[in-house]
Order: sequence, then structure tokens, then C-alpha cells
Amino acid sequence: MFALASALLALAATSATALPTISTLTTRASTTPAQNLCGTPDDSVVIADNPWIVYNMMYNAADIVGSACTGFTGLVTGADGEQKCGWNSTWDIAEVASTSNVPKGYSFVGLTQNLENSIAAIASIPATYDWVRSNDSAYKGNVCFDFMTSDTKGDSTSSAAQELMLWLRYEGGQLPIGYAAGVVATITLYGKQWSLYQGVNTDTGITVSSLVVDQADQYYGYFAGDIKDWLLALVSQGLFTTSTFVNVGNAGMEPFYGTVSFENKLGLQINLA
Ligand SMILES: *[C@@H]1O[C@H](CO)[C@@H](O)[C@H](O)[C@H]1NC(C)=O
Ligand SMILES: *[C@@H]1O[C@H](CO)[C@@H](O)[C@H](O)[C@H]1NC(C)=O
Repeated sequence: MFALASALLALAATSATALPTISTLTTRASTTPAQNLCGTPDDSVVIADNPWIVYNMMYNAADIVGSACTGFTGLVTGADGEQKCGWNSTWDIAEVASTSNVPKGYSFVGLTQNLENSIAAIASIPATYDWVRSNDSAYKGNVCFDFMTSDTKGDSTSSAAQELMLWLRYEGGQLPIGYAAGVVATITLYGKQWSLYQGVNTDTGITVSSLVVDQADQYYGYFAGDIKDWLLALVSQGLFTTSTFVNVGNAGMEPFYGTVSFENKLGLQINLA
């Protein structure tokens, strides 16, 4: 939720790279080798011939006592036969009272293709997110999707841009921006109940709208759904219209503290109408 402007600029720069537009991922190979990304504050690798960038974005690295790494483990085939991005995220971050409430960064896979189109121009954004967690301590953090929209094509940094979060799972008492202001709306989506919270990220000046799945109904390691349904649910809430642009899209986890590792497989792509 505290994604920084510099980070988003980096993503914008990436999306300008010429990459092929693809309609199916099933048979795409990649020359990108498996690797660990442990550099801070920013370390990333674009996955060749696929719509993804794997990113270790530790924008609050100065507050990390320990380490946080994101890895690309290779392309894998999911149970649905579609190609997924295999990746992992390992944090070994001491719980320090003064920074236990500070997200240390964002470990994620971002989209590099078919961004900067209006919702109306997008047919679907099929997503699957598998994760297996192994933790050796209590930890604080979430598993989420994070998208950015704006009525201006390509804008992900002005205060007119909007950051949208979908919290599939959260541990250790992590709370969304705007929590203190209370629930803005309750929404049914993907067959579950979600609470909408809104507030301005004081680091970026951007309003963040977080849909947080009910505590008792959290996802336990698997999500499948069309991300466009989430965006349309927010259109119904009046956040924007279908002519707004989807400028950034990604899925990942926000580490606060703990000794924990996640092995993930992500399917995510934007299919244009
Ligand atoms: C990801 O998994 C690979 C293969 O097991 C391992 O070598 C690597 O250290 C892991 N990286 C992270 C960040 O968890
Ligand atoms: C791992 O995390 C879960 C969920 O927060 C927690 O219930 C469990 O106690 C943790 N395991 C260890 C070894 O601390």
C-alpha cells in the first residue's frame, strides 16, 4: 500500500520496453534464468517474452534489520494448463517495535504488457495466484494485488492517479490505509465479502482504495478470478468510470517483519477487447 512514486516510475519505464503482445502464454519460453533479487532498495528482472517483471522493491530498506529477497524460479505450468510465473519471497526481518508498523517494501510480479488501456478496452484480466507459506516465526504482512488507474493514460504518480489494493490474506495485524476512518462500503466479489477502506498515502499523495476480504474468509493459498471484475466493482462504487486507464498492475506481498518464505505461482495478463 505504500508503493512509492520512484517505484512506479520504474515500472512505467519498463512498460515502455518493446515486448511482444501475446494472446496466450501457454507455450512461451523465456531465456531469463532463475535468480534471486536481494539488492535494495530496488532489484528487478524483466522476464523475457512474457508479460512480467519480478521485483524486490524494498523502499523502506533502511528499516530492515535482516533481509528480504524476491526470486524468479522459472516458468511453470499451472493446474489449469496455463503458463505461470514461478517466484518466491523470503524475509528474515527482526521485529523492532519502532518500525513494526512500517511496511519494509513490496515483493511482487508486475505486468509489463497491455498496460495503459482503458477498462472499456480490456476484455479480461485473468489471474491465478498460488502461494505456499513457510514461517519460522510470527510475521506481519499480506498477499495482495495492487493496480493503479488514472483518467490520464500512463499516469501513476500524480495525485489524480488511484492505487487499488485487493487483500487476499493478511497476518500480524496489518491494517489498510484509511482503516481509522472506517469501512466506506461492503462489497460482494468473487463470492466473498470485502470491506472497502480509503485514505491518502502520505508518502505519495495518492488515494489508496483497499478491498480487504473478511477476516474469517481469507484466502488460504489460492486465488483465481478476473481482475476486471474487481475494477468494475469499483466503477459501481463511483471511484472512476470504464474510460479510466489501467496503468500499473501487479501481485505480491508486503513484508513488515518475521522469518517467512512464500513459494508462488502467478498467472496474470491483460487481454484486450
Ligand atoms: C527461491 O527458490 C530457489 C529454489 O529453491 C532458491 O534457490 C532461492 O534461494 C529462493 N529465493 C527466495 C528469495 O526465496
Ligand atoms: C506462522 O504464521 C501463522 C499465521 O500468522 C501463525 O499462526 C503461526 O504461529 C506461525 N508459526 C510460527 C512457527 O510462529
